[in-house]
Amino acid sequence: MNMKVAKDCLFRGARVLVLAAVVPWACGGDEADTDTSASSETGSETDGDTAIDEGPWESFDERPCPQDSAVDAQNFGIPFLLTHCNGCHGGAVTGEERQGAPPEVTFDTMDQVRMQLDRIWVRSADGNDTMPPAGGPTDEERRMLGEWLACGAPFVAGE
Ligand code: HEC
Repeated sequence: MNMKVAKDCLFRGARVLVLAAVVPWACGGDEADTDTSASSETGSETDGDTAIDEGPWESFDERPCPQDSAVDAQNFGIPFLLTHCNGCHGGAVTGEERQGAPPEVTFDTMDQVRMQLDRIWVRSADGNDTMPPAGGPTDEERRMLGEWLACGAPFVAGE
């Protein structure tokens, strides 16, 4: 199976996405052996049996990735972004429908998300809540977002 195709079918425009969010991500299986770089960078600091660091964290760099994190794109990241962000930040959302969301801040692909981990964190994750502008995510969702981002936004947890 072609991995490019698998990746491209993650996000395909806001309306399709919203529909797709309620069905299983049938196209995700091929991601398993790709994109391990992002998560392995951040994981090493949390080794050992030191006390769990529950924050608050001043910056994205301080936010640890729990070694046993089970949060990934399929069980959290994609549905979260579709529900709370891509109404304005989706690639298919243009003109006034973006409500001022910058064109370069678009969350259609895993690569786009991974290139903006710190930017997303500082607006939406853990104690940060200036995005979405009108609020919406629960504290627990923001904590899970922080964990997912800190782990490098894995498509499959632990990879
Ligand atoms: C109602 C529309 C809307 C929604 C929904 C929304 N945003 Fe935004 N977003 C904006 C606008 C407008 C801006 C530009 C103004 C600003 O930065 O506050 C922006 C800017 C941003 C930026 C750029 C900040 C920078 O680095 O310049 C990030 C990152 C961001 N949003 C993330 C998110 C995330 C993550 C979500 C979902 C949790 C989200 N937004 C939901 C409208 C939205």
